[in-house]
Amino acid sequence: MNKNLKFEINYTCYETWDDVPENYKHLMTEARKAKDGSYAPYSNFNVGAALLLNNGNVIHGSNQENASYPIGFCAERTALSAAASLASHEKIKAIAITCSSAHNPVSTPAAPCGICRQTIFEAECKHKQDIEVVLMGETGEMYVFKSIKDLLPLHFDADFL
Ligand code: THU
Repeated sequence: MNKNLKFEINYTCYETWDDVPENYKHLMTEARKAKDGSYAPYSNFNVGAALLLNNGNVIHGSNQENASYPIGFCAERTALSAAASLASHEKIKAIAITCSSAHNPVSTPAAPCGICRQTIFEAECKHKQDIEVVLMGETGEMYVFKSIKDLLPLHFDADFL
């Protein structure tokens, strides 16, 4: 016998900036500031990430590219490494991610890559607390996910080891 199953992803979509609650506006504004630190001379695709810690502090990260392309860092992992170094015991409440491109205006929410999803998931496991994921392009809708698990079905964790 076979079963056809499906996953359901729950998230909130704010259609306009005016609909967005203040706390998400604030964190997304921080992600935009974080994007100023982006070093992306090869892709011309700039990404900013802002982490909100339980103690209220905000930590920025941005993508950092390299002439040896594969060793570049994504914004999300730059922010998570900074948090792990500067405030290793502080739990992470939320991450906001935004991006812009020199080639096209970005009007849809920026989705984190697979490696970053797994890395955000590891931070949830480490701190035993879900991390809200807040996504937006330069303009357009904002998506809010209650946990990175919503973007990482069938996640791989330490229970397999
Ligand atoms: N990038 C991120 O910073 N985060 C992601 O989740 C997706 C991709 C960066 C990596 C690279 O510097 C540029 O975007 C183009 O792939």
